Amino acid sequence: MAEKKRIVSGMRPTGALHLGNYHGALLNWISMQDNHECFFFIADWHALTSNYEDPKNIPDFNRQMIVDWLSAGLSPEKSTLFVQSHIKEHAELYLILSMITPTPWLERNPTYKDQIDQLNTKDLSTFGFLGYPVLQAADIIIYKAQGVPVGIDQCAHIEITREIARRFNYLYGHVFPEPETILTEMAKILGTDRRKMSKSYDNAIYLSDSPEAITATALKMITDPQRARKSDPGNPDICNVFEFHKLYSPKERVANVREDCRAAKIGCVDCKKMMAANLVAALAPIREKNQYYRAHPKEVDDILAAGRETAGRVATQTMAEVRAAIHL
Ligand code: TRP
Ligand code: SF4
Repeated sequence: MAEKKRIVSGMRPTGALHLGNYHGALLNWISMQDNHECFFFIADWHALTSNYEDPKNIPDFNRQMIVDWLSAGLSPEKSTLFVQSHIKEHAELYLILSMITPTPWLERNPTYKDQIDQLNTKDLSTFGFLGYPVLQAADIIIYKAQGVPVGIDQCAHIEITREIARRFNYLYGHVFPEPETILTEMAKILGTDRRKMSKSYDNAIYLSDSPEAITATALKMITDPQRARKSDPGNPDICNVFEFHKLYSPKERVANVREDCRAAKIGCVDCKKMMAANLVAALAPIREKNQYYRAHPKEVDDILAAGRETAGRVATQTMAEVRAAIHL
């Protein structure tokens, strides 16, 4: 049998995962588990780059994230699941890579400038924030990953990772493969306000939400903005509720909604209620597993300990090669 391709990816712990995270990344990771050797980690050091002033929630967020991962279907039998800060070798490699990374590569990184502009409530003029992609490069190449499944927003970072790996190999001899970007298609679903689904916009539906919370959030969703009254025909193709129907309702229902919306035979409130019922049913198994893992913290600890061991073994081996290559 051909060797499985090794992939690595991480997520910053931001608390409970929402459907944007689920459709945007997690489902893709879950589907890759059978055909790849997977390393998935919680990027808690990366969370510090922008939340260094208020780190007290990070432990809870880490816990929430691993519970959501396990509930959604990431499996410790198939994948190595771990916490970035447990593997100190990432930090050592980050330090070494920082020596060979030209600062202009970081300063011209488009996500760097964007974030500095967008998160203007925080002071991000730190060394750590500028060096974010160097830490990300260390996260990836320490496992000699061949691929990195990420969304389009991360492409620039993976490009910098490849440049850093190439530069290391050029200076010190070949140690690292250059990882490919495995582009994840972005979720089409939006938040209730039709902006990108995000915790900071308060417009999200969470994997661990109760049925009541899911229904309440669904009822808040903005629909076809042109449709003021039930007697106005609607346009499902521009309606976010309809995107959810396409993901969570049976085919016949989707077809009915499409026609009835255009013919003004169905009101938006009823339409949302039907969608919410299907969403609640679809998320029930995830919600149940969430409750299970929350009630069994020891089991979760053991999974993270096992991940720490596997990841640590690989990272230790790579660092031995790195230190030899740089004569330290
Ligand atoms: N920067 C990624 C994000 O914000 C998270 C991340 C950190 C990551 N290290 C990584 C993703 C390594 C892939 C590989 O989503
Ligand atoms: Fe959207 Fe449904 Fe309202 Fe049509 S009826 S606009 S699909 S919520």
